Amino acid sequence: MTASSAILLAITGWDPQEWDARFRALATGRDIRLWPDRIGDPDNIAYACVWKPPHRLLAQFPKLRAIFSLGAGVDALTADLSLPPVPLVRIVDPDLTMRMTEYVVLQVLMVHRQQRRYDAQQRERIWRELPQPAAHEVVVGVMGLGVLGAAAAAALARLGFRVAGWSRAAKLIDGIETYCGPNQLDAFLTRSEILVCLLPHTPATEGILNSAVLHRLKRDGALGGAYLINAGRGSLQVEADILAALDDGTLAGATLDVFATEPLPVDSPLWTHPNVTVTPHAAAASVPDALVENVLRQIARFERGEAMENVVNLAAGY
Ligand SMILES: NC(=O)c1ccc[n+]([C@@H]2O[C@H](COP(=O)([O-])OP(=O)(O)OC[C@H]3O[C@@H](n4cnc5c(N)ncnc54)[C@H](OP(=O)(O)O)[C@@H]3O)[C@@H](O)[C@H]2O)c1
Repeated sequence: MTASSAILLAITGWDPQEWDARFRALATGRDIRLWPDRIGDPDNIAYACVWKPPHRLLAQFPKLRAIFSLGAGVDALTADLSLPPVPLVRIVDPDLTMRMTEYVVLQVLMVHRQQRRYDAQQRERIWRELPQPAAHEVVVGVMGLGVLGAAAAAALARLGFRVAGWSRAAKLIDGIETYCGPNQLDAFLTRSEILVCLLPHTPATEGILNSAVLHRLKRDGALGGAYLINAGRGSLQVEADILAALDDGTLAGATLDVFATEPLPVDSPLWTHPNVTVTPHAAAASVPDALVENVLRQIARFERGEAMENVVNLAAGY
């Protein structure tokens, strides 16, 4: 292995040791460095595999050839104005996609099958069957029809839900009613009773889950109210607007995996709101056992002179 082929791992918020161990196990013979203690000579670092690295860190490696985001979202990287002009590759992997599909299906079914009401009844020892609409009577709107959104939409359609989807560019997907761009947002929202958000955070999507959008959701459908499920990014949601919408009945419930500030501050009213489900950014974890092989495959492609997959379009921001 040449001196300028070292891989640097720079990971915050997750346990870097697990990634280090997996990279060392699979990339035997490769020089694996671990920020901050084991950087070594910056001139040897060719690849950076990162999650939320500190801004300006990656600009310190003059021979850097590519950056790999260990998560699907790259907003923490695109926010670094000193990001070196090398390809930025993000994780797209069946393991991550399946985890997100599980989360979305679970949370949609929790709403659809009224599980919170049954939980409340159980606490009171109440035996009462609630009227239950069929899945085909309910429209789920999926905001973001990328890798994760399209997979979740397809799984929901297989369960029988009527599924609408919204993306930036027009798409044709079997079994999904597709909408695109700002001009078709209203038509998408007004038919959606459960809004699932799997958008990336970009300047165009920041704060998109606001009062104006929530007010357009369908409240008089089979579920008798509108619901929000956000597993995209916290910066997409205006939390004060979501709370106001819950309190005035615009929203019947919200399931939030991501928050403007993470961990969600202990004094946030979202923790205790009776119609809010909070999960700790756990919808789809990046797991080293599943993903390191994927990154190493991409590096091998790059070193053979082949095009890497899932290179981020920096102009679009995702
Ligand atoms: N909670 C978690 O555990 C977790 C885990 C992984 C990922 N995530 C989040 O999930 C996001 C989506 O991941 P992904 O792999 O599905 O991303 P992706 O493949 O890049 O898809 C993004 C989708 O959003 C659409 N989009 C982007 N900007 C838009 C805009 N301004 N208006 C309308 N649609 C827009 C894109 O439209 P086009 O198809 O037209 O390009 C695309 O359909 C990530 O960015 C990350 O924030 C969360």
